[in-house]
Amino acid sequence: MENFVVQGPCALSGEVQVSSAKNAVLPLLAAALLCPGVCTICDAPHLTDVATFLDIFDDLGVAHTQNGRAISIDARTIGAHTLHDVYAKKMRASVLVLGPLLGRCGQACAALPGGCAIGARPIDLHLAGFEKMGARIHIQGGLVRAQAPHGLTGADICLDFPSVGATENLLMAAAVARGKTIIDNAAREPEIVDLAKFLRTMGAKIRGAGTDTIQVEGVAPENLTGASYTPMPDRMEAATYMIAAAATGGDVLVRGAQTGCLRAVCAKLMQTGVQVIRTPGGIRVRAGQRLIAADVRTMQFPGFPTDAQAPMMALLCGAQGTSVVTETIFENRFRHVPELIRLGAQIRVDNATAIVRGAHPLTGARVTATDLRAGAALLIAACCARGETVIDQAGHILRGYENAAEKWQALGAQVQLIHL
Ligand code: UD1
Repeated sequence: MENFVVQGPCALSGEVQVSSAKNAVLPLLAAALLCPGVCTICDAPHLTDVATFLDIFDDLGVAHTQNGRAISIDARTIGAHTLHDVYAKKMRASVLVLGPLLGRCGQACAALPGGCAIGARPIDLHLAGFEKMGARIHIQGGLVRAQAPHGLTGADICLDFPSVGATENLLMAAAVARGKTIIDNAAREPEIVDLAKFLRTMGAKIRGAGTDTIQVEGVAPENLTGASYTPMPDRMEAATYMIAAAATGGDVLVRGAQTGCLRAVCAKLMQTGVQVIRTPGGIRVRAGQRLIAADVRTMQFPGFPTDAQAPMMALLCGAQGTSVVTETIFENRFRHVPELIRLGAQIRVDNATAIVRGAHPLTGARVTATDLRAGAALLIAACCARGETVIDQAGHILRGYENAAEKWQALGAQVQLIHL
């Protein structure tokens, strides 16, 4: 159990280096299960979600070693095919082992992920895709069992919704299926492009990642070879520091932030009256005299990312005027709202819309991080608030922000991480 204790207000200034992307590293770790060789993920961030993935490897009987920031996975042998419910509950991304296990071993079993803090998040699209590739799926007693004893067969799959996780799982399964797979209405997130690059380094044949049609020519797992790969920088960590700089009236160079992945966030920040400057090493965000209200609607990439919605709402609490924030990806992603209200924010939620009346002064209070990005929003709001804020359940923040306390402190924030 951890708390963050923040003394506000303070304007963030200086430079911060973003780490490798959590949402890229987790699928890359899963993809290493496809390969009967040693794969190395270079520059892996120290995050609890990454540590959880390594625990899953232990459970699956897959050898791994860590050397500084490099993680090597030796999946020459896989001893088990079951993802236990403790992992399925702890981290939704754990379901990404299903595609590789099913593709490589012809079987996979997992506890169904339950409802989580930001919505129901079912995996029906993943399972329907596996079925199209010839797998038999049985769901009983909260367990899903997928079997393809003679291997998967390439198929034409059209996703009902461009789910990031389903696209990744099906892409990994298709990489080792017999024949050609086409995934239509695929998610276009940059992390999918990163996953495809890693798979191609192993020898997979993939075209179209980053577009809504991905084509995969299956390769037998024994023809894949071990590969080393450095994941992309974390665009959500970058977005958080950019928004934090703007919200606190600061000036921060976010090193490693890439405009190509962050156009929607940059555009929205500029709309609030903030200067966004592209530099050779990253993106510099310089706050102006005051923030102006802006409407935000979350969308799949390249739209405004749902993962930046909570941090952006924290910023809008300090903007002149009324902002309307609409969440279209997750059905319950406003759990940060009651916590922001505890700090003095004026927000009303009506279904998928939050109306933020900005520029009401925030005051420190005791709040709870209900999920990763909600926690980031609270860190931002706490830096804007006068007095002391205690953020309970700060462990959520450590799932996805490497060295969060040190990085915020280096930018001048009065933040302490307390291990209880
Ligand atoms: C990934 C990201 C997460 C991000 C999200 C949307 C990782 C590890 N996590 O999550 O940070 O917020 O993309 O950009 O990369 N859905 C279904 N059925 C399915 C799959 C999804 O109904 O089979 C629904 C979900 O409930 C949700 C929506 O689709 O409402 C988006 O989910 P998805 O794109 O799959 O997100 P994740 O891969 O879980």
